[in-house]
Amino acid sequence: MAGNVDALYIFLLIVSGLMTLLIFTAVVYFAARYRARKGVLAEQIDGSTPLELTWTIIPFGVFLVIFLWGAVVFFKGRTPPRDSAEVYVVAKQWMWKLEHSEGQREINELHVPVGRDVKLIMTSQDVIHSFYVPAFRMKQDVLPGRYTMAWFHATKPGTYHLFCAEYCGTQHSGMVGDIVVMEPAQYQAWMNGGTSGPLSATGEKTFSELGCATCHRSDGQGRGPNLQGVFGHPVQLQDGRTVTADENYIRECIIDPGSKRVKGFAPIMPTFQGLVSEEQLNALIAYVKSLSASGSGVENSSAASVVPIAATGASKKAEASDKASDKGSKVQ
Ligand code: CUA
Repeated sequence: MAGNVDALYIFLLIVSGLMTLLIFTAVVYFAARYRARKGVLAEQIDGSTPLELTWTIIPFGVFLVIFLWGAVVFFKGRTPPRDSAEVYVVAKQWMWKLEHSEGQREINELHVPVGRDVKLIMTSQDVIHSFYVPAFRMKQDVLPGRYTMAWFHATKPGTYHLFCAEYCGTQHSGMVGDIVVMEPAQYQAWMNGGTSGPLSATGEKTFSELGCATCHRSDGQGRGPNLQGVFGHPVQLQDGRTVTADENYIRECIIDPGSKRVKGFAPIMPTFQGLVSEEQLNALIAYVKSLSASGSGVENSSAASVVPIAATGASKKAEASDKASDKGSKVQ
């Protein structure tokens, strides 16, 4: 993105520079040419349609170019490509906590391989911070109580500064870190250096520890919605709205279950506000995500396992096929 942002910025500088030059040349020339002289009176001229059209149409065209170009760069910079590597970021006074979806945890340091799209799913556990990597021309506010996203694709190995760019208290200026971009082989070696297992596995553990699994059963017979294949898909709500099950939606469901209740389910889920840390929330979301990881395959197999229950009541058979589909999604 850095090249795109720079090109647009240089274009703006050139356009502004040329306009400034044009205006000042005209000011100086007219000041000399039409200076006050004894006995000479100014002649009044009323309007000129060609002139007015010229200075309306040309700037309009230039501004339209700036707008379209800016919009393209903006949307590109805001839209993480599919199948980016995911890193969860938790900001706090005054440090950055980063967790790879593979399970590696880091503080004030983020190791990434060169040439890979990396999506950051960021939140704050206290005040507003801002994740700023000047070398990547990337800056995104990090807010408490919700997720904001950013992404980058590092093209050169090296170590790049990470700053907090939103005044967040006494040691705001010390809230800095490094993005370490490594060659793929080097990165693989770094990745192999010990982990507590994938984030989704931590999330699965949390899911059963908090008792979520008692209601959100994968056989569709629980008191809460079955979460298989939910992530990334539209969800029908009790109040008639439809929302997409993204990170922010899952988060809201855990913190404030009443606000966007799924159609056909009773308002019985308690809030987990204050009971789960930001790290646990991230793990839970990674887990819910992993339930949709194999895409349409999971949907099909879970749909297939629901039908026999309704039709024949052969729950043992259904359980068996459910376990099989669980296995299938884990392997993938
Ligand atoms: Cu965090 Cu400034």
